[in-house]
Amino acid sequence: MKVLTVFGTRPEAIKMAPIVKELEKNSNIESRVCVTGQHREILDQVLEVFDIKPDFDLDIFKPGQSLSQITTKALLGMEKVIEEFRPDLLLIQGDTTTVFTGALAAFYHKIPVGHVEAGLRSENIYSPYPEEANRKLTSVITSLHFAPTEIAKENLLQEGYNPADIYVTGNTVIDALKYTVKDKYIFDKSPLDSIQYNNKVILLTSHRRENWGEPMERIFSAMKKIVEMRPEVELIFPVHPNPKVRTVADKYLKGMDRVHLIEPLSYEPFCNLMAKSHIVVTDSGGVQEEAPTLGKPVLVVREETERPEGIEAGTAKLLGTDEAVIIEEVLRLLDDENSYKSMANAVNPYGDGYASKRIVEIICNRFL
Ligand code: UD1
Ligand code: UDP
Repeated sequence: MKVLTVFGTRPEAIKMAPIVKELEKNSNIESRVCVTGQHREILDQVLEVFDIKPDFDLDIFKPGQSLSQITTKALLGMEKVIEEFRPDLLLIQGDTTTVFTGALAAFYHKIPVGHVEAGLRSENIYSPYPEEANRKLTSVITSLHFAPTEIAKENLLQEGYNPADIYVTGNTVIDALKYTVKDKYIFDKSPLDSIQYNNKVILLTSHRRENWGEPMERIFSAMKKIVEMRPEVELIFPVHPNPKVRTVADKYLKGMDRVHLIEPLSYEPFCNLMAKSHIVVTDSGGVQEEAPTLGKPVLVVREETERPEGIEAGTAKLLGTDEAVIIEEVLRLLDDENSYKSMANAVNPYGDGYASKRIVEIICNRFL
């Protein structure tokens, strides 16, 4: 059987890499990888870590493209790849523009789609934007839904999808994480090696479209004030390459003592940095899944989350983007040991590290 795995951004690459490795091990499967190149340097970082050499690279990246440009370029590029390789199944992961166009291109060729990380929902079509729409649109043209959790499965059942096509597999991000976090990790990059990790290190990431502009200004302003108020805090922020993020990060945080604005980290150092941090503040999806596994309290600076499992487990808190609320909640974790301890539990609501094996087994059972 021929399987085409398609991805285009950093988080998709991280979560697809364990599946690509499993597919490669299976002698009954002819596996090919197509990257759209929606991201470039932060995608290539991941390909390098997992030693994946794409068979097809649509190379659509151009800084500052609109959603329509990404969509049309990826769709046209994928059409050629599908016509050349003629896969029996096309796999996509998550909710980016690459994901929706991958599913659509397969549908136009009547090729079944396997959707990894299916069934996440915030139930607000504009938040996350455009991801909530991407995943709903993708579900409609998906044949095999690989739901990471029971909650995700329940969302799909409520929308009327056939239970026989929904599989709860765990999230492959935990498979990826298992291989990266090490006990005595040494960073090969300054300034990460010289940071005092017994100080209270706050790791920040932020990139979401619905936070662009004022919400992001509030988040970064809150972080600036926290660093000014608390001399024991070190803030580390690997800044997403998007200029819409960089400009605001520079405006509030550049040049401050105990603030480290750094380039995006490769996956291995990033996860090990998370493991050494005290608190994680993020609007990322994947980071919300990794932090609970590492026992790190994660404060989510978004209005909605499609990942309620961490909140139910008590390791994540949904703050929104109000500056005063962010300051209050971070200070609570810094000052109140009980609050900190109640959130700093290593729990694993997102998977056990075997999701990719399960997914490939299911594919074999259904197709071979
Ligand atoms: C995309 C996904 C989002 C996902 C995020 C993960 C869409 C619409 N958005 O958002 O769901 O959470 O990836 O990071 O699919 N850039 C670079 N180099 C890169 C990557 C990005 O310079 O390697 C800059 C470019 O200026 C680019 C901008 O970032 O135009 C935004 O990239 P884009 O792919 O449109 O969206 P993200 O915000 O990264
Ligand atoms: N990540 C990384 N380097 C960084 C920041 C994040 O490798 O500097 C990883 C992180 O561990 C997670 C993924 O990138 O697995 C999340 O990507 P992102 O936040 O860009 O996207 P989202 O998950 O929000 O779609």
